[in-house]
Amino acid sequence: MRSIITGSGIGIPKNVVPNDALAKIMDTSDEWIRTRSGIEQRYYVDAGQGSSDLGMLAAEGALQAASRDKSEIDALIFATMTPDHFFPGNGPVLQAKMGLGEIPTFDIRQQCSGFLYALDLADSLIQSRKFKRVLVIGADVHTPFMPWQNGWDVTIGASDREVTQAERDENTKYRDRTVLFGDGAGAVVVEASDDDTRGYLGAKLFTDGSNIEALYVKGVGFRHRPYVNKEELAAGDQIPTMEGRAVFKEAVSRMPAAVRAVCAEAGIEVAQLDLLLVHQANLRIIEGVAKQLALPPEKVPHNIERYGNTTAGTLPILFHECITDGRIRPGMLIGFTALGSGLHWGAALYQC
Ligand code: ACO
Repeated sequence: MRSIITGSGIGIPKNVVPNDALAKIMDTSDEWIRTRSGIEQRYYVDAGQGSSDLGMLAAEGALQAASRDKSEIDALIFATMTPDHFFPGNGPVLQAKMGLGEIPTFDIRQQCSGFLYALDLADSLIQSRKFKRVLVIGADVHTPFMPWQNGWDVTIGASDREVTQAERDENTKYRDRTVLFGDGAGAVVVEASDDDTRGYLGAKLFTDGSNIEALYVKGVGFRHRPYVNKEELAAGDQIPTMEGRAVFKEAVSRMPAAVRAVCAEAGIEVAQLDLLLVHQANLRIIEGVAKQLALPPEKVPHNIERYGNTTAGTLPILFHECITDGRIRPGMLIGFTALGSGLHWGAALYQC
């Protein structure tokens, strides 16, 4: 028995934010952002729109593509680091919002590797014969992480006011991170199939928590009393901190190693991959991974230029686009790889 993906969908918010819109509220430029990251624009949710809303759009699209009714779904896995509430997670939120049955829902938080982990978990649940059809969602909204009280309206074109110098200075403090992220969601329906010629072939997943400070949220946690306090907010500790160069180095070495490992375990050569879908964090990272693995650019598609880094959303959004425009076709062997905060990383193989 194999786990096969029978449908995919995406949930993208309506507000397009080109690089120039960010340059209106902080010291940055389209040229800097494009050169360092490959990003040209990203999408932002409206205030009040959460990852569960984008997840629902994606999930509805995936169900429709799979020709499945919501009553046919046995379990839900929601991967996000930005749930609507501290607890409960987005699983129950989405279960109620979509009117799914009283099925089990799993909330997982592996950040940029969230979808990869969710896919592997879905396969394990199917292989254990507990469930036949699992809805897998990867969704994140980064805008609430950012200091957007200082010009949120300007970035989405809702206002043409000039931000004050104090607001500009505050925004500039976080520019190395804020310019990289966007909001978005993707979803897939994973089903048990007796067709052994296609489907999920397995994954190699890893964690190294020895340097979580390389990419984490310092404040807002239960080692602090109360877990959100004025001092932390004043210090900006609710905003993620990132050692960009350190994460970059980890990404360009650990993702290729994971791809080699999963291919070796499956007894195939990396060169046999028809496509490798890489977590969309930075175009230079994607190109670095392709180079390390000697894969030509046409085998390593990307859409970071349009979405930025949507964390758990990047892989299912890219997968959906490649399915929709025919870059993924029946018979192809494709790989997935991701690395993110944790550090969590890994790679998976899928025979279409
Ligand atoms: N606009 C203009 N200048 C900027 C900006 C900006 N948005 N951001 C930083 N700079 C400046 C810096 O202040 C620095 O200036 P200085 O030399 O005067 O001090 C200069 O640009 C160079 O900064 P670096 O940090 O050295 O730039 P780098 O080339 O390393 O690129 C980047 C930074 C894009 C963050 C890169 O390191 C990166 O992509 N890292 C990996 C990010 C990642 O993959 N994160 C993981 C996923 S996220 C998750 O898991 C949730």
